[in-house]
Amino acid sequence: MRVRVRRASRLEAEVLAPGDKSISHRALLFGALGTTPMEVRNLAPGADVRSTGACLRALGVSVLEGATPGAVTVRGVGPGGFRSPDSVLDCGNSGTTMRLLLGLVAGAGVACTLDGDASLRSRPMRRVLAPLRAMGARMEGQGGPDDERAPLRIEPAGELRAMAHRLPIASAQVKSALVLAGLTAAGETRVREPEPSRDHTERMLGAWGAPVRVEAGEVVVTRLLAPLVLPGSLDVPGDPSSAAFWVGAGLLVPGASVTVRGVDVNPTRTGFLRVLERMGARVELDAEQERAGDPVATVRVRGGQSLRGTEILPGEVPSLLDEIPLLAVVASQASGETRITGARELRVKESDRLKQLVLGLRTMGADIDELDDGFVLRGPTRLRGAEIDSAHDHRIAMSFAIAGLVADGTTEVEGAEWADISYPGFFTRLREAAGS
Ligand code: S3P
Repeated sequence: MRVRVRRASRLEAEVLAPGDKSISHRALLFGALGTTPMEVRNLAPGADVRSTGACLRALGVSVLEGATPGAVTVRGVGPGGFRSPDSVLDCGNSGTTMRLLLGLVAGAGVACTLDGDASLRSRPMRRVLAPLRAMGARMEGQGGPDDERAPLRIEPAGELRAMAHRLPIASAQVKSALVLAGLTAAGETRVREPEPSRDHTERMLGAWGAPVRVEAGEVVVTRLLAPLVLPGSLDVPGDPSSAAFWVGAGLLVPGASVTVRGVDVNPTRTGFLRVLERMGARVELDAEQERAGDPVATVRVRGGQSLRGTEILPGEVPSLLDEIPLLAVVASQASGETRITGARELRVKESDRLKQLVLGLRTMGADIDELDDGFVLRGPTRLRGAEIDSAHDHRIAMSFAIAGLVADGTTEVEGAEWADISYPGFFTRLREAAGS
C-alpha cells in the first residue's frame, strides 16, 4: 500500500496512545505462568502481539478476545504446564515474541519449532540461543558460523542450570529470555547489561510474585515454584514509541497542537523526550494515574518551536532505541549538528534502520552521513517530497510520513501497511489530524 503525505499547514490532534507493545507481549507471556484468568485491557493493537497470543494458544494457554476492543483474557497453565504444539509457532515479524518465547520454553520440557517472516528469519538469534544452551537448553537455529537464524528447533531438556550472564550489548529481549529461563533453573541466575534496557520484565514479574529482584543493576532470578499471582485485570499504558510519532509531528508542523493521553513514561522508555528537551523543545507532561506499575502522563506539544542539534551518547541509546529513525527526521529540522553513536543494534531490527533512515532522508535532501554505529546530520534542511520505501519496517514507514508533513510537495511511502505491526489506523488518524 502506498500512502501519500503532503506538506501540512495545520495539525490538530488529541489521541489516546495505543497500548504498549512491550508490556502487552509480557502480559500475555507472563499471564501464561499463572493459572487464574487475567483480563488485559488496552492490549497493543498490532500484529506483533497477536503473534504472541497465537503462539501461546498453541502451547496450551487460553487467550480469549474480550467483548470490548483491545481486551483479552489470558488464563495460563502455570510453570511446567505447557504442551508441545502440533504445528510450527509462527512469530510473524516479532523479535520480542521469538526471543521471549525461547526463554519461556527453554526449560519447559516441550518440543517446538519457532519461525517467522523473511525479516525475522534474517535477525540474529545466537545472542539468545548460546546463553540458553549454556544453561542446558537444547535449541538450534539455521546458518553458518557467523550467527544462527530462524527457524529454530527446541527439544525438551532436563533441568536448566542457573548461571551469571554478562550481556555484551544492552537488550531487553535477551535479558527477558534469560530471566524467563532462570525461573525454571536450579540456583540463582544473574543477568547484567552494559547499560539498562527497558525494565518491564523485572518489574512485572517481581510485582506478580516471581522470585526476581534487581541488585546493583543486575537482575537476580531463582526458580518459580508456584504459579504467578496475577491481578484479575491489567490496564496496559500507552506506547511511548507510538506516541512519539505524534510528538514529533506536533513539534515540526508550524502552529500544530498535539495532545497524547495515557503515555507510559517509565524512565527506561523516555530518552526521546529527554533528548527533545535538550534540543530546545518544550514538551509538557501532566501525570495521570499509574498503570501496570508504570508512571503514565498526558504529553502536549505545540508546533513551530526552534530546535537545535544535539549529541546522543551510546549510554542513552537503549532508552530511545525504537525512536531513532523519527529522531533523525526531527533533527533534520533542527539547526546545527546532531550526532548519534553506539546505535549499531539498529542494523538488526525489522530492517537495517540506520541504512534506511540515511537513504530516505538523503533522498529528501537532508545533509546526513551514515556511521557504522549511528549518523551525523546537519540541519536544518527544507526537505523535498520523495518516494520512500518502508523496507517492510513499521517505524520507517511512520517516521517518513512525519517527514512528509514538513517536506515540499508530496511524499509517497511505499509499503505503508507495515505500520499495522504496531499501530493500525495510524495513517488514517494522521490524515484526519492534518485535515488532508
Ligand atoms: C523490546 C526491546 C527492544 C526494542 C523492541 C522491543 C522488548 O529491543 O527494540 O522493539 O519489548 O523487549 P532490544 O532487545 O534490542 O532491547
